[in-house]
Amino acid sequence: MPKLVSGFSKLNKEQKIEWLSNYFLKDNVNASDILRLYWNSDKKLQQLHDDFIENTVSNYYMPFGIAPNFIINNKHYTIPMAIEESSVVAAASLVAKFWSDKGGFKAEVINTVKVGQVHFMYEGDKAVIEKYFSEKKSDLISITDKITENMRKRGGGILDIELRDKTKDLEHYYQLHVTFETKDSMGANFINSCLEAMAQEFKNDDVKIVMSILSNYVPECLVRAEVSCKVDQLHPIDGALFAKKMKQAVDIANVDPHRAVTHNKGVMNGIDAVVIATGNDFRAVEAGVHAYAAKSGKYKSLTSCKVENDVFTFSIEIPLALGTVGGLTSTHPLSKLSLEMLSNPSAKELMQIIAVAGLAQNFAALRALTTTGIQEGHMKMHLGNILNQLEATPDEKEKVTKELSGQTVSYSGVADVLKKIRA
Ligand code: MEV
Repeated sequence: MPKLVSGFSKLNKEQKIEWLSNYFLKDNVNASDILRLYWNSDKKLQQLHDDFIENTVSNYYMPFGIAPNFIINNKHYTIPMAIEESSVVAAASLVAKFWSDKGGFKAEVINTVKVGQVHFMYEGDKAVIEKYFSEKKSDLISITDKITENMRKRGGGILDIELRDKTKDLEHYYQLHVTFETKDSMGANFINSCLEAMAQEFKNDDVKIVMSILSNYVPECLVRAEVSCKVDQLHPIDGALFAKKMKQAVDIANVDPHRAVTHNKGVMNGIDAVVIATGNDFRAVEAGVHAYAAKSGKYKSLTSCKVENDVFTFSIEIPLALGTVGGLTSTHPLSKLSLEMLSNPSAKELMQIIAVAGLAQNFAALRALTTTGIQEGHMKMHLGNILNQLEATPDEKEKVTKELSGQTVSYSGVADVLKKIRA
């Protein structure tokens, strides 16, 4: 076992790779070449990526695709998606086209409130802390004046501070529950800076601060999107049956958490891809969205489906804390380009676009699952990937695809057919 290393971050990139190759990739003579293969020849661009995190040794590429033909609130979008799963962009594009001549997607932001908390322990009398809080509240706001100055100019800032008694859940536990409006920025740094300043101001001999941090649970930073059409527009043969099965699929996700998690995973295929492409924090979005799916105490579908008076309506309601200024959105060239592709949306508009991407993806998944099954589409992409791995020529690809049409695709099956053709 190699010795633990100290001062590692101070080594240069070459030294880090050498250390890694010597101790943890000993058996791979190509290791350092593979890492170098993904360096960008543009030194400035590479430096930018090196500086995003510590100990960068290479770049990790993901495909960056675009899904055209999205009509959202009567506006035409091409949506950027960064994702490795083969069927997601194809599904988004198909569904966008499908709804484009049925009125497109409608979306609205319900609220944009973000939350931060100062968690503290207090063992004294409740009435005393309540009095202390009400006397201190205006100081808690004014202590952040410098931090909030710019945000206030943009129409945002601190909305309110509440003292919350959590002692029923945990002995001596109280919190300052602070709400924020952060306009077009995601606001994580802004919120955390405000909270830390407030905590400094609020602490005393009896108020013992535990931590100050924003919450990624943002049920009041909420967006809704929907599509609807006459049932008979849904399917060339039997729209009513199609609508019924789609509703059943959502009903099942609402009663069975095993299904709901997979159902929502499909929603997140669309959401994460756009969140990543636009330089937003997909871990924050994931955590918040799944908590929202469980808000009733049971993990349920993020999407809803209803059929009323022969009208099919499919909708989504999700919390999304996003930014279109600051952070990676302003520093990563591809994130900037993604936002430009979307006509530099406000954070609110981006919430609508991303909710639509999630809804579209779920529609595509349920449509496939309740009709042909999911494997038909997946198999085509899977076959393409295997053929690339086996370095098939365009002619070989065509022959193998023909030979395996309608069959289940496996690596060994494709390899066998290719071997036969090559022989
Ligand atoms: C696969 O990435 C996503 C699906 O499993 C979603 C679903 O089952 O609804 C197809």
